[in-house]
Amino acid sequence: MATQRILTGITPSGTPHLGNYAGAIRPAVDASQRPGVESFYFLSDYHALVKTDSPERVQRSTLEIAATWLAAGLQPEKAWFYRQSDIPEITELAWLLTCVTGKGLLNRAHAYKAAVDKNVGESEEPDAGVTMGLFMYPVLMAADILMFNAHKVPVGRDQVQHLEMARDIAASFNYRYGEHFTLPEAAVDESVATLPGLDGRKMSKSYDNIIPLFASADTLKKLVFAIVTDSKAPGVPKETEGSALFQLFQAFAAPAETEAMRRRFAEGIGWGEAKEALFDKLESSIAPMRTRYEELIAAPERIEQVLKSSAMVLRAQYATPFIARLREAVGLRSLNRIAAQAADSRGKPKAKPQFKQYREADGLFYFKLVGGSGQLLLQSRGFVSAREAGQAVASVKNGEGFAQWSDMAPDADEASVRQALDALRAD
Ligand code: TRP
Repeated sequence: MATQRILTGITPSGTPHLGNYAGAIRPAVDASQRPGVESFYFLSDYHALVKTDSPERVQRSTLEIAATWLAAGLQPEKAWFYRQSDIPEITELAWLLTCVTGKGLLNRAHAYKAAVDKNVGESEEPDAGVTMGLFMYPVLMAADILMFNAHKVPVGRDQVQHLEMARDIAASFNYRYGEHFTLPEAAVDESVATLPGLDGRKMSKSYDNIIPLFASADTLKKLVFAIVTDSKAPGVPKETEGSALFQLFQAFAAPAETEAMRRRFAEGIGWGEAKEALFDKLESSIAPMRTRYEELIAAPERIEQVLKSSAMVLRAQYATPFIARLREAVGLRSLNRIAAQAADSRGKPKAKPQFKQYREADGLFYFKLVGGSGQLLLQSRGFVSAREAGQAVASVKNGEGFAQWSDMAPDADEASVRQALDALRAD
């Protein structure tokens, strides 16, 4: 089976809560461990600018959300974990997509329409307070997805329309410029828990009913004891149906534990006792993650390093070559090539130097740099993964110290390599 690319964005504009964990983070981390899947999880910090104009909040939330995903078990070797703004090709793609997107399509976006309806209802100008960031949000989101030609995009119901728009936008581009984009599909998992908050409504920052994922044990206990229940006395049988307490328990307990709790409800467990049991369950699931989270938060440079190095490899392997193809497709082309084409027609083809990545019978991944006349300029050693080989290509392309890459290409001649890199850059 060919690899399925799964991609989803998390907007860093708040503090993660239990609902985010059970509804998005935990299933995504599980999915990233399945074979045959290439996962892309990223912090959509460009999108955060639409939601908040507090720089501190964007930065803080980026740190907290990145630390949360890593603490929850996301392994950067198994999934691409990056920050949108570290990949400037995404905003460049957003412009190429903007130019094929009908304004009428964006007029119909739910979030924009809601803002307009609210203004009209308050006898304001329809577009009062609406930024172009809000209006263009779906195009930027399409760029996130199309940049990596994702097949499946796990999202909540509220994002399904954005996925339909991404498909429309991709199709408009393909129609004009050729088949460059895969049409992505929304994956809305109905079986994933939507957790209730303290008041029984869906847990959401906008209802102010959340339980932060990494609250201290004391705060967690206070919040659990603040969950609303009915007023049935101990000994009176309780309904599990519609009980926020029971649903929260179920989201963290094994099936057998859930069944045992269901029986205790039928037997009339007291609410105090049930809350104690929920707190114990939550605390035992969360405590190990909380410890990792606190370690991560205390070392922001390590997180920065994880995000930066993923972005560097992603750019080298996907974004930079893909945007180059797209620029070519729309006609943003080097003028040098007009001269080169003329020279070609005079019978003297002049090829460009090229990086070639390949796998050998020994199972290792290699790359080489081949000059314009086919001469071998640089031969790498074998790498255990395509990703490491890609990382090495990226560092060579970035012109990082000769000393660093000469050890993986012992025969390289520095001057000819530099000349070839310059030729590549001049394009
Ligand atoms: N709009 C999404 C949200 O608010 C976040 C997001 C940004 C996203 N880009 C994306 C989700 C791309 C999926 C794919 O939840």
